[in-house]
Amino acid sequence: MSKRALITGGAGFIGSHVAERFLDAGYAVEIIDNLSSGKRVNLPAAATFHELDITSADAARVIHEGGFDAICHLAAQIDVRKSVADPAYDAGVNIGGSLNLLEAVRASGRKTRFVFSSTGGAIYGDFVPLPSFESMPKDPESPYGIAKLSVEYYMGYFARVHGLDTVALRYSNVYGPRQDPHGEAGVVAIFCKRIRDGEALTVFGEGGQTRDYVYAGDVAHANFLAAEVPLPKMAQVDTKSFNIGTGIETTVIQLSEIIGQAAGKPVKVNTSPARPGEVQRSSVDISKARDVLGWTPQVALTDGLKATYDFFAGQK
Ligand SMILES: NC(=O)c1ccc[n+]([C@@H]2O[C@H](COP(=O)([O-])OP(=O)(O)OC[C@H]3O[C@@H](n4cnc5c(N)ncnc54)[C@H](O)[C@@H]3O)[C@@H](O)[C@H]2O)c1
Repeated sequence: MSKRALITGGAGFIGSHVAERFLDAGYAVEIIDNLSSGKRVNLPAAATFHELDITSADAARVIHEGGFDAICHLAAQIDVRKSVADPAYDAGVNIGGSLNLLEAVRASGRKTRFVFSSTGGAIYGDFVPLPSFESMPKDPESPYGIAKLSVEYYMGYFARVHGLDTVALRYSNVYGPRQDPHGEAGVVAIFCKRIRDGEALTVFGEGGQTRDYVYAGDVAHANFLAAEVPLPKMAQVDTKSFNIGTGIETTVIQLSEIIGQAAGKPVKVNTSPARPGEVQRSSVDISKARDVLGWTPQVALTDGLKATYDFFAGQK
């Protein structure tokens, strides 16, 4: 009998790549998504779809009755600015929904590997040396980052007290086909669409801000390994948390140039005043994921951005 995986947020950008990765490996895949930002068209045909909210009793029932070997939990309110405007809503989905699922795993009594999509871009804050290691001080500046870190602490509790088998993947800035302009690497989608349409790009400040861009297919493979690889027992919050990125910083200007080259089009850039509070530099150290999960990113930024641009170009 094939192994069984549940992907929450599987109609979304990264979740749909994760669902495809498990299907490719021969898993039976089920998806929970309320389609709030995800799209039906993203759902792989071979997956069983439950149109449900992760905060609902029905979602808990899917877990209770599903007999899953692995759950990859990606469904979330992903917009950092929305979390600032309405922290209670963000916490309701991102903490409340995650607790609903963790409680359902506990109640099922089954040994299910629970892989949580956390963030490396929004929990380390602005004051740690780069690239950030998992054990560096966490100082999230947004309600979104606080909620993600809170769920990691709850997972520590469920692992230690109830024996749940949990893992957190702290993604840097994920980009790729099907990405949403509101996510943490939304700039890639925005730049691709503007260059496609011959419009000027807006760059804030000098455009020297850096991010660590990792390809969605590589992130999907990290989820797969995190579901399969034997892991140590939970000691403290960072024991089973892994940065997933590249360790490479790319500036906004460099990003615009690489997408322009992929498109074969000239890029026009307008500058706008720097945005107060914006993180200036960000990148994550990935040696722990390499050593423990056996994961390294395979897709170079130029290749990944070409695939992403071609996806958006094909949408017109
Ligand atoms: N994109 C990035 O760069 C990035 C970086 C770090 C972490 N993450 C995390 O990765 C995960 C996936 O993000 P994404 O970029 O693919 O975003 P996305 O918006 O494309 O995917 C999120 C999915 O969750 C669904 N969803 C939202 N609220 C729900 C609810 N209450 N019940 C059921 N489904 C719900 C949405 O419909 C959507 O399909 C999220 O947890 C996000 O926080 C993303």
